[in-house]
Amino acid sequence: MTTWHGLIDSDYRRWLPVTDDTPSISLGEGNTPLLRSAHLSALTGCEVWLKVEGANPTGSFKDRGMTVAISRAAEAGAETVLCASTGNTSASAAAYAARAGLTAAVLVPKGQVALGKLSQAVRYGARIVEIDGTFDDCLRAARELAADHPIALVNSVGNELRLSGQRTVAYEIVDALGDAPDVHCMPVGNGGNITATWGGYRTYRSAGRSTRLPRMWGYQAAGAAPLVLGEPVAVPRTAATAINIGNPATWDGAIAARDESGGLIDAVSDEQIFTAYRMLAGHDGVFAEPASAAGVAGLLDRHARGALEPGLRIVITLSGNGLKDLDASMRDGYTATEASAATSDVARALGLATLNP
Ligand code: F0G
Repeated sequence: MTTWHGLIDSDYRRWLPVTDDTPSISLGEGNTPLLRSAHLSALTGCEVWLKVEGANPTGSFKDRGMTVAISRAAEAGAETVLCASTGNTSASAAAYAARAGLTAAVLVPKGQVALGKLSQAVRYGARIVEIDGTFDDCLRAARELAADHPIALVNSVGNELRLSGQRTVAYEIVDALGDAPDVHCMPVGNGGNITATWGGYRTYRSAGRSTRLPRMWGYQAAGAAPLVLGEPVAVPRTAATAINIGNPATWDGAIAARDESGGLIDAVSDEQIFTAYRMLAGHDGVFAEPASAAGVAGLLDRHARGALEPGLRIVITLSGNGLKDLDASMRDGYTATEASAATSDVARALGLATLNP
């Protein structure tokens, strides 16, 4: 068994924009589990695989791009990195910046970031600005500030470094399955990850590492679905806060991924997202954050509409860890029975008395 040291020091290094002069700022990202879902496979008649990106060091796929972006920022002598975020990018930027000895400044929409993600940015020592506005407002401000100040913008907008790192998810999938799947389902927010994942499949195909390309099926939340509507949404609204984005920065890339792959970008309701969220945890043992479940919700939606051919090999990106948003989990409801510490009372609470009278 070989030890994993993160993406820059892996076999995927040749596909990353780094040189011998680039320091490897890594937390051991990548190499995430690809799990076959017995439940979703049986339900859909397809062969369904889950790419568990919440297993990355800060709990989301963002670490794949951040290791490259922060390593290159450190190489270039940057002292401060800046990003706008719905939470995960800020957590990742803050962690990698801490490791590199850089200052991270993060702009987040006030009251719209899951507490786990905000806590991460706090603990990693980021300078946090909560903005009275949407994610889209944060991103505009970040871009304007980066243009006028000596700070490195680490959002994926036009940031080839971030996208090149995020492409590695496709390499891992092809290497694990032996070829590209028929379909790749994933959530879509700002559009960077579907662009990168599609780019990864194309890179690997061009290099002869796979014989085919998947169709890319992207899913937005219905209250934040500009790519489905074909126009920006001024005030996006979804409980899947990670993808609460009204004007995706990588709009063209997402549309190109859809069209070049013969795929689609569709909308799923919050109710469908939370149904998928419960199903993933309850049947597959994978606790993914709500936005992460959008790809599963989309697949189930197509199946329910009779629009899913059976027998397809499908990979779904589960983009972030469920532990990041415990409020969402508890709001979804739970039942627990109370008991005193007496064993007989615990047995009663468990219903053992009635099971084994
Ligand atoms: N899933 C999760 C968990 C995310 O955090 C994001 C984006 C997406 C999906 C969508 O990916 O934006 O590349 O289309 N989060 C960004 C952030 C916006 O700031 O953390 P995308």
